[in-house]
Parts: sequence; structure tokens; C-alpha cells
Amino acid sequence: MATDNLLIEIKDLHTYFYLAEGVVRAVDGVDLRIKRGQTMGIVGESGCGKSVTALSLMQLVPPPGRIESGEILFYRAVRGNNASTMTEVVKITDLKPNSKEMRSIRGNQISMVFQEPMTAMSPVRTIGAQIMEVIMLHQEVDRAEARRRAIDMLARVNLPNPAQAIDRYPFELSGGMRQRALIAMALSCHPSLLIADEPTTALDVTTEAQILELMRTLQNDLGMAIMYITHNMGVIAEMADEVAVMYLGRVVEQTDVQSLFFNPLHPYTRALLKSIPQLSDATAKKRRRLEVIKGMVPDPYSILKGCTFHPRCEEMIPGVCDQVLPMLIEVEPNHSVRCHLYGTP
Ligand SMILES: Nc1ncnc2c1ncn2[C@@H]1O[C@H](COP(=O)(O)OP(=O)(O)OP(=O)(O)O)[C@@H](O)[C@H]1O
Ligand SMILES: [Mg+2]
Repeated sequence: MATDNLLIEIKDLHTYFYLAEGVVRAVDGVDLRIKRGQTMGIVGESGCGKSVTALSLMQLVPPPGRIESGEILFYRAVRGNNASTMTEVVKITDLKPNSKEMRSIRGNQISMVFQEPMTAMSPVRTIGAQIMEVIMLHQEVDRAEARRRAIDMLARVNLPNPAQAIDRYPFELSGGMRQRALIAMALSCHPSLLIADEPTTALDVTTEAQILELMRTLQNDLGMAIMYITHNMGVIAEMADEVAVMYLGRVVEQTDVQSLFFNPLHPYTRALLKSIPQLSDATAKKRRRLEVIKGMVPDPYSILKGCTFHPRCEEMIPGVCDQVLPMLIEVEPNHSVRCHLYGTP
């Protein structure tokens, strides 16, 4: 397949946590491709490995976790002679988490907005100081220029009175304002990939809608790709160009957003789509974390034979699905699925 527009390519990634109780296979064979300037939505129930996939990409997996095997490639744009742009391939999985090169990628070319802004920012320093630090770490500018750029970024994320707000502490801002400040911090270096891990889950629906709109606008202006992690299919419909559906550490279906909604193939995807909350139950939104699919997600230490969704699957083929792990196969152009209903190896 052509790698022309490719920005990130994850191949057969395995990230495990080694606990006293056993090994948690948080990411167990993820394949994912993100194109330049696109929004890749990652959706799946709680515990399926969305955040650990993102942390692996940033080389931020906390111990006792580690990337066990697989490859993460970053197709970095570099300026060639006479202002032409070339691409060089950086193998992120070969870089040490604390190496100079990884630190220059993290927070600069790839940055991340976390679910809970309070934990992502230091409570004892002003938001301005924190944004300026990011700017000065990666760009050769003095304090006055960094401050000017920070105010400019805060204005872009629609924080009211940015020239004053810059000297505020995180606790002085509302949740929605903090999330805007965090997005400003993540964007202040114009990353080529922004990872947004459920950035609106802690917010009310109105603020959520504003933040989603803001991210779309900034993406158009800055041309970055977004990896948008959510458990909410409604948000996927609004934000994503491409979608990867994850179940128990693996991608089970990946395609463009139209095909996913109009022609979902995997029984798990179909079940997720049935679980979209209606507009009328916006208040129930926070409580409904896609738990309407029958059966429980198996405990993370267990190793299931065959397709890991088979105990919950309404179309399970006995003797096949409970025996053989299906491969991720491309059943039509740009539509891959990991399910025996579409071919058995
Ligand atoms: N620091 C950790 N130590 C041990 N296990 C972990 C750690 N972080 C994640 N895990 C385990 O890895 C698996 C995947 O977790 P992950 O956080 O990626 O899920 P998720 O898809 O992001 O879920 P959610 O929607 O709830 O955020 C889970 O079984 C989780 O318990
Ligand atoms: Mg998560």
C-alpha cells in the first residue's frame, strides 16, 4: 500500500503490564495507520487499550508496563533544500523514552490532551508559565516572544481575556476553560499529530460541543492530524474521518466514517452502534459507557482462545470463532475487519 500521506503506522503492537496477579495484555496486536491532516477516531469499551495505545505512541507507558513487540513508525516531514518537503521515517519503538530525540518528538511533533486537565497541569504554576515552558523548550524564542505566542494561542482556543487569563492558576479556571488551556498548550508547537484522549468526557454537553468545534477549526487552520479517543460513537460521527474500533487490545475493524456507520461489518461494531445514546438522553450520557452490549468484557488477565469477542457475539460460529483467532483482513478497499464471518484463514 502507498505510504504517500502516511503520518503514523503502527504494526502488530504489543504493550503489556507485568503485575503480581499476572500479565495484562493491554495492547495485543494493534495495527493502525493515520494519514497526515486526518482525524482518526479510536472507539471501544473501557479497558480495551485505547489509552495504552496512545501512551505507547508517545513512549509514555508507565511501569510495570512496556512495549513488548511491534513497530511504531513516524513519517516526519523535514524541510529539504529549496523549501521542498521530504519525509523521513522515525522508528519510535527504537527510541529510548527519555532520549533527546523522543523528547523532541513528544510535545512538539506529537502532543497529547488528556482526559482530566487537572492532572495534566501543575496546580502550583500559572497556565501561562506552563504554556511558555513548552514553547521555549522546542522553539528558540525569548520569554517575551514566548509569552506573546502563549497569549495568541489562548486567544485561538477562545479563552476570554487571554492577556489576563495567562497569569491564572489552573484551579482558577472552570473545567471547560482548563481544557481549552490544555489544548492551547498541546497546540503551541504546531504538532503534526494531536492525540486527544477523551478530552471532553469531564465536560457538560454544551462545553463539549464547543471544544469539538474548536478542535475542528484548529485542525483546518493548522493542518494537523488528530487521534481522537472516545467511547462515544456520536462524537466519532462528528469528528472522525477514519475510525478504528478496538476490542480487548486489538483493532477489530477500521474504515472511513461513512462505511463504519452505513456498512458496519464486525458484530462488535454493530453492537456499539446500537448503543449510541439518543440526543434526548444527554443527561444519561456520562453514565452510559457503552455497557449495553450483552456480557462483560473478560478480565484482563485471561487468555481467550479464538476471537476474543466470541463469548459475547450473537453470530458466533461454534468450532471456529472459539478456536481460531481471526486476522485483520481488508474485505473491500480501505475496510478491514477481524472476523470469521468474512473469511477464515
Ligand atoms: N498503569 C497500569 N497498570 C496496570 N494495568 C494498566 C495500566 N494502565 C492500563 N492498564 C490496563 O490495560 C488495559 C487497557 O487500559 P486502557 O487504559 O488502555 O483502556 P481504555 O481503552 O483507555 O479504557 P477507558 O475507556 O476506560 O479509558 C486495562 O485492562 C487496564 O486495566
Ligand atoms: Mg483511556
